Amino acid sequence: MQQGIGIIDSGVGGLTVVKEVIRQLPREKIIYFGDTARCPYGPRPPEEVRKFTFQMVEYLMNYQIKALVIACNTATAVAMQDVVREISIPVIGVIEPGSRTAIKETRTHRVGVIGTTGTIQSGAYENTLKRINPGIEVYSLACPRLVPLVESGDLTSQHTKKVVNESLAPLSDENIDTLILGCTHYPLIADAIQEAVGPGVSLISSADETARELSAVLSYRNMLAEQNGIESPEHRFFTSGSPQAFQKMAEQWLAIPVQVSQVDLETVSNRSTF
Ligand code: DGL
Repeated sequence: MQQGIGIIDSGVGGLTVVKEVIRQLPREKIIYFGDTARCPYGPRPPEEVRKFTFQMVEYLMNYQIKALVIACNTATAVAMQDVVREISIPVIGVIEPGSRTAIKETRTHRVGVIGTTGTIQSGAYENTLKRINPGIEVYSLACPRLVPLVESGDLTSQHTKKVVNESLAPLSDENIDTLILGCTHYPLIADAIQEAVGPGVSLISSADETARELSAVLSYRNMLAEQNGIESPEHRFFTSGSPQAFQKMAEQWLAIPVQVSQVDLETVSNRSTF
């Protein structure tokens, strides 16, 4: 029997989506993979990101997941279409949900997008926003210094604030009213980002809308966890990096105890599933 929602990211960023999935779909069991050992994906060539993404998907398919959330913008941008073609369960990325929320939120139609170099270079947000509403002006900015900060666990220091301010400075003259956090790591430093852009700019995290989309897809396909199922399912977390560092961040962000296992994807993967 298929069970659980697979959620993948290059590291801890996908935990921002996990938190929303737990809030909106508390009966669903989550099986998470964070490829922390090879994070960041942002500066890597698309072919490599695609390969790493497939290795995570392949690993989670061993757990009979019933749906997959690619909780990584970089992987969604370069690999989502290929993953959809290869597996027969519903696949949800983070770029469409985030774009829809931004379009709903903006009043001036001037929308900023920050993300990794890979996500920004792919043009995925710009294409998606304009496909839905061609009248949106999009101001995109790669912020490659932010993911390493988040992965190091440094979310609130003066150094973090300084790096965030410097990274976002190019957006200050663009007069945006809405800013898409186009990387799932960024909600973890949302306070510093909000301070940098000022209170007049709405920050959009794709986490809420992605969880809502997952909920709608499972409901539509009659795949929601059984009513008489376990009330608090035991989630599983896998990382390719340090389980201790991952556990610390996960428990801090999710405010629940988590068990983390380490998996070396290079040795377990043989791409036999695809
Ligand atoms: N959290 C990821 C994203 O949403 C990836 C960050 C990275 O690995 O560079 O793009």
